[in-house]
Amino acid sequence: MEIEDVRDDIEKVLLTKEQIQRKIKDTARRVDEDYGGKDLVLVGVLKGAVNVMTALMNYMHTTCPIGFMSLSSYGEGFESSGQVKVRSDLNVDVEGKDVLIVEDIVDSGNTLHWLMGYLSNEKKARSVNVFPLLSKPSHRQWDIYVKYPGYELEDEFVIGFGLDYKECYRNLDAIAVLKPSVYSQERM
Ligand code: IMP
Ligand code: MG
Repeated sequence: MEIEDVRDDIEKVLLTKEQIQRKIKDTARRVDEDYGGKDLVLVGVLKGAVNVMTALMNYMHTTCPIGFMSLSSYGEGFESSGQVKVRSDLNVDVEGKDVLIVEDIVDSGNTLHWLMGYLSNEKKARSVNVFPLLSKPSHRQWDIYVKYPGYELEDEFVIGFGLDYKECYRNLDAIAVLKPSVYSQERM
């Protein structure tokens, strides 16, 4: 789905399809270089990371296992609540492997902080790094080392490329801010 398909709902476009694809392609090249000869596994967080995961693995020139986990940070809406709960556990073995977590966005950092600890301590990964396509530094509560940084955003709620508002807009190929009227309609 393209911006034109949802033009009436969009306040502004923050990142175009081309900007997103360029960042992921550049990251794929770095991952190819950095993990040559290592035992890489890509781990995605459902559902938001699906778009980034698909693009990243398609751009990579090396092959490796992939896995997914479903996590919830309790509650829905705009704010992550802090507590992370496993909805569906990891479906690939990462013991002794070099894990790269693929994420849509790092906001407070709760999700990634928890997941990095979980994969290292419980799942015994050899190393754990992260590639979040987006970052909102103003909300950060944890000091997370982001080896592969994506784009930095202001403190605004965004949708598209995996990110949803009430489960919709995940299939938009760009990143955008919704019009306030979209939210107020929902509340009526
Ligand atoms: P964190 O645990 O606070 O870093 O939040 C991470 C999760 O919150 C992301 O994986 C998203 O699912 C969700 N999230 C954070 N900011 C946004 C946003 O602007 N739009 C949609 N979802 C978001
Ligand atoms: Mg997410």
